[in-house]
Amino acid sequence: MTHSETAGTPQDRIVFFDTTLRDGEQSPGCSMGTPEKIEMAHALDDLGVDILEAGFAISSEGDFQAIRAVSQAVRRPVIASLARTRKLDVERAAHSLDLAERPRIHTFLASSDLHLEVKLKMSRAQALDHATAAVRQARSYVDDVEFSAEDATRSDMEFLAQLVAATIEAGATTINLPDTVGYSTPEDYAQMFREIRSRVPAVANITLSAHCHDDLGMAVANSLASIEGGVRQIECTINGIGERAGNAALEEIAAALMVRRDKYPYPHSLKNDLLFPTSQMLGERISFRPAPNKAVVGSNAFAHEAGIHQHGMLANPLTYEIMTPASVGVPSNSMVLGKHSGRRALGHRLQELGHPLDAARLDEFYHRFVELADRKKAIYDQDLVALATQTTAATSLAQA
Ligand code: KIV
Ligand code: ZN
Repeated sequence: MTHSETAGTPQDRIVFFDTTLRDGEQSPGCSMGTPEKIEMAHALDDLGVDILEAGFAISSEGDFQAIRAVSQAVRRPVIASLARTRKLDVERAAHSLDLAERPRIHTFLASSDLHLEVKLKMSRAQALDHATAAVRQARSYVDDVEFSAEDATRSDMEFLAQLVAATIEAGATTINLPDTVGYSTPEDYAQMFREIRSRVPAVANITLSAHCHDDLGMAVANSLASIEGGVRQIECTINGIGERAGNAALEEIAAALMVRRDKYPYPHSLKNDLLFPTSQMLGERISFRPAPNKAVVGSNAFAHEAGIHQHGMLANPLTYEIMTPASVGVPSNSMVLGKHSGRRALGHRLQELGHPLDAARLDEFYHRFVELADRKKAIYDQDLVALATQTTAATSLAQA
């Protein structure tokens, strides 16, 4: 595959659509309240995501309010609000975005016969009507409308092409073809986009988007392959959180674009050195952290245990590291923290760990840290995070 066979040129940007606060948040153990969502939204804004999906407006009052709050708090990225193709859903999504600087309504409907027949009890003709009506309704509120054909990868190609053509005609500006159940392979996924581009000429005027789930462990591989098929928007989540086995992990895609620039020479606006702090911050806000062996952000991602590896690393890190820890924001840990460490060094390490503290809290944290360092020989990052969490909780309580 050469770049001339893809939809664009290397000058094309890859647009990052983050759905940590919607597809990620709806999975078990990942739920967040509005304050956590706002904190995460600020971190995602700092990281440089282009589009931030803040929730599914009609699903609950909490989601609706969280989308409104995120829209007010974060002004640079496009804020997306999800809606089924029902009138009330689209209306609620539009209302949730009233205060957004750059609103996007994201409406979706299944395109596979399996979903249409079993779940929606809808014919293909009815699906076309529902999808186009929803896109038209969404366009009456905002200029930026995304349509997703749920379960696209298990859909009949001819019908999928019909649906894509009809929704573009109705006003969709982004077309997303999700691998909803993580069924696809890289070759098949790229081929699906090529096929759609050749069957629907109007695709040249809109943005094509990929959205992959990780049921077979191929979400990131499929997302990268879709770029070769002409995709320029990638939907993903921090730490790969999401339904079932999760969504494509944002940090892995960003790292792949950085390390394999030879293959993917596309600019994007993510700040790679904020990948690790953002991952840490999310781990802190939900009930679990990434597995230690998780690529890019796991605690072992840059650890070298075997003697032969350590020997190679000492001779030249390139022997066993394809990227430096610093390039993705992993602290070098060259600074050993102990009871003689100062507030500045502690504050810096907490920032790197995704747990920044204001001056008053840092002062309180410092006293707790010195006390702990007196009792404990080695202080690990986990100790710092636990101490910072206790400090934040104690000072918030005192202020209440
Ligand atoms: O996985 C999926 O199909 C989705 C859509 C709602 C975009 O999350
Ligand atoms: Zn999804």
